[in-house]
Amino acid sequence: MLVVIFLALVSVAWRWGGELKAETAQDYHAVGVRQGVWNNGQAALWDLNFLDYFHYFGPPERARGHQPEQPIKFSHVTHVQKNQMDCQFCHWSVDKAAYAAIPEVETCMGCHLQVSGTEQWQKDEINKLKKKNEAGQPIEWTKVHVMPDHVRFNHKRHVKAGVTCQNCHGQIPEMQVVERVSSMKMGWCIDCHRTQGTSIDCYTCHK
Ligand code: HEC
Ligand code: HEC
Ligand code: HEC
Ligand code: HEC
Ligand code: HEC
Repeated sequence: MLVVIFLALVSVAWRWGGELKAETAQDYHAVGVRQGVWNNGQAALWDLNFLDYFHYFGPPERARGHQPEQPIKFSHVTHVQKNQMDCQFCHWSVDKAAYAAIPEVETCMGCHLQVSGTEQWQKDEINKLKKKNEAGQPIEWTKVHVMPDHVRFNHKRHVKAGVTCQNCHGQIPEMQVVERVSSMKMGWCIDCHRTQGTSIDCYTCHK
């Protein structure tokens, strides 16, 4: 019992501390992109952020804060926040299928035959895109969210039920580079399913 109380206190302090310590712009950003995420991306009260960083419970790509570098520096800030593009314009399958489609190079070229960028870094990155298009090659994006093979996940069911993108992915429009804001551990999924009165039967999520 004492141990539980201790862990609860540490956990509260940790989360509180995380917000109070947001002094630099980068800290504010880290707190900001997590806004709207279910249960702050935690599986339970004692699921502390730092446990994810130690990667005790799995490979790094399943930890909160995982933010792989991409072959082309595509920015959601530019496209979604500044140019007001709709998520579903690119990730068109979210309300039709289990997976969320990543757009083909042709979708990008609809604009980038004309749009070449203003700043130098943008021009360089858009040139990479054009080269891929000329060579007819797909872009090999690195997946940010990876579920183990035994887990079944379904975008369509969530989107149709009114669960929003930010409930699971955070403030994507503010991310220059997409970051995993929840470790998406089993307890995190189940916590929301319980609250929403959805099935928590093992076979709902496991093959
Ligand atoms: C609706 C039009 C549109 C589509 C579709 C589009 N872009 Fe862009 N893209 C833009 C605009 C506008 C800019 C900003 C250019 C500027 O500021 O001068 C931009 C900028 C970029 C940049 C420069 C870095 C950045 O993000 O600021 C890259 C790289 C890029 N786009 C890649 C892509 C890729 C990859 C796709 C397809 C997945 C894509 N774009 C689809 C309009 C589009
Ligand atoms: C112009 C096209 C475009 C738009 C609009 C767009 N995205 Fe993306 N998105 C991409 C591309 C390309 C990638 C892969 C590269 C990357 O991870 O940055 C991606 C990656 C992602 C990922 C990470 C996928 C993974 O690998 O696990 C998430 C989550 C995501 N987008 C959510 C959103 C949300 C939410 C919105 C709306 C707020 C949105 N996207 C709008 C093109 C787009
Ligand atoms: C209930 C949580 C949840 C919601 C809501 C959600 N996602 Fe996801 N998303 C995930 C999970 C979990 C994965 C990893 C799936 C996998 O690896 O099988 C993922 C993966 C992705 C990917 C990578 C491609 C894929 O299918 O693996 C993209 C892109 C993406 N999501 C975009 C979106 C967009 C856009 C929305 C809003 C329309 C959205 N997601 C809503 C949990 C969610
Ligand atoms: C923010 C809340 C929320 C989170 C987080 C969430 N879910 Fe769900 N999930 C729902 C709701 C609501 C439904 C019910 C959809 C319906 O009734 O059709 C659902 C339905 C499902 C279904 C379909 C159930 C069926 O009967 O076929 C699967 C599979 C599922 N979720 C898996 C997951 C997994 C795996 C995760 C974690 C990676 C997750 N969910 C995280 C809210 C959530
Ligand atoms: C709402 C979805 C959901 C339900 C319901 C669910 N699981 Fe899971 N489970 C997951 C996810 C997501 C993971 C992967 C967690 C990760 O990557 O860390 C997982 C992982 C696991 C693992 C691997 C160990 C681990 O923690 O990674 C086992 C074993 C497991 N689940 C058993 C069960 C059993 C038994 C039940 C029924 C009592 C169940 N699960 C119900 C989503 C679910």
